[in-house]
Amino acid sequence: MSILSGKHILLGVTGSIAAYKAADLASKLTQAGAQVDVILTNAAEKFVTPLTYQSVTGRKAYTDKDLWGDEAHVLHVNLGKTADLLVIAPCTADTMAKLAHGMADNLLTVTALAATCPILIAPAMDGGMFYHPATQANLQTLQTRSVLVAGPAAGHLASGLKGVGRMLEPIEILGHIRIALGKKGILAGKKIIVTAGGTQEAIDPVRVITNHSSGKQGYALAQAALDAGAKVTLITTPTALTPPVGAEVIRVKSVQDMLDALLNETADALIMAAAGADFRPVHVAKDKLKKRDGIPQIQLEAAPDILKALSSPNEGKKRFNVTVGFAAESRDLLANASEKLKSKGLDFIAANDISANDAGFAVETNRITLLFATGTPETLPLMSKHDAAEKIIEHVARLLE
Ligand code: CTP
Repeated sequence: MSILSGKHILLGVTGSIAAYKAADLASKLTQAGAQVDVILTNAAEKFVTPLTYQSVTGRKAYTDKDLWGDEAHVLHVNLGKTADLLVIAPCTADTMAKLAHGMADNLLTVTALAATCPILIAPAMDGGMFYHPATQANLQTLQTRSVLVAGPAAGHLASGLKGVGRMLEPIEILGHIRIALGKKGILAGKKIIVTAGGTQEAIDPVRVITNHSSGKQGYALAQAALDAGAKVTLITTPTALTPPVGAEVIRVKSVQDMLDALLNETADALIMAAAGADFRPVHVAKDKLKKRDGIPQIQLEAAPDILKALSSPNEGKKRFNVTVGFAAESRDLLANASEKLKSKGLDFIAANDISANDAGFAVETNRITLLFATGTPETLPLMSKHDAAEKIIEHVARLLE
């Protein structure tokens, strides 16, 4: 998670039961390499202690005692000036009101006023308070001042009521933090489409022909593009993965669905990480094939080759300035990948040796060689799919320059 590594995040925690969840957020940020300084309000201290946060960040957690302590007049200014982002999670209706009105009556609100970095709030409040006209007016004021808002979500509230007011889950807030940090990244202002997962070609209403693709590399690419500041559309087949926060998600099943979805799109770059089927049943049975009818003879036909279809002159329109493909090969890696690079009209291809245990489908790592339409190949060492995604995104950005 290089977007967070070395970043200075100020985490303000206010008086909501969701304060206990913010400890998980502080932990996740710290594990991702960020330096996390926590400021608790008095009300937050009723729910959690500074020690909770110190234990996960390895750094002092500040409280209002520090506002009147030795470092007093420099502390809030320093914290607010050195941070890359001030995140207030959970942010109560009271703190939202204070921020909207420029009040500075505790260390957190003083720091927010002095802060020169962007501010992201994750509101959390009970029954009806979020939709109170006062809260909505404060929200609007904050948004017009470019304060970023993550949530709140609908669901069960601490009072037992159901409604809008739950703080987003830490993993979702983390996604919003990544977007906030990536805003001026190398792909800012660009639109990137990533396809992911193995397609499903129906045999009957129950059965499909699919492959071992997990979608991990595609999802990692979508996240890396978001981290780089791009607007991202993820066209995905059914997978067990959660799409990254901020991606527009289009769900498809077959190669034909994926091609149709792409024919509705244009973008700066297309990264085809999906494992599309090469063959599909000629006929899809309307009803479930029954055992009692014997073993079916399933006749296959060629499925459309999406990349070839998109690069064909008949397509008439260049939808993507840069097109990147993957080559999943179990032998003759570079020769086969090089042939696909040319025949599919790609700018570059990530050749992936799926015969190794530590690369290819469903594992966390990949061993990739990048082959370019123009330029020398680059062999990447064994690395996580996230790191491989970042490398690929760097090359996409370079080609789009
Ligand atoms: N691909 C595609 N349409 C398909 C199948 C694959 O556009 N119907 C794309 C993949 O997303 C990938 C690239 O083509 O970016 C290469 O996919 P791969 O499965 O390695 O190759 P195939 O084209 O299927 O060729 P072969 O069967 O010879 O390996």
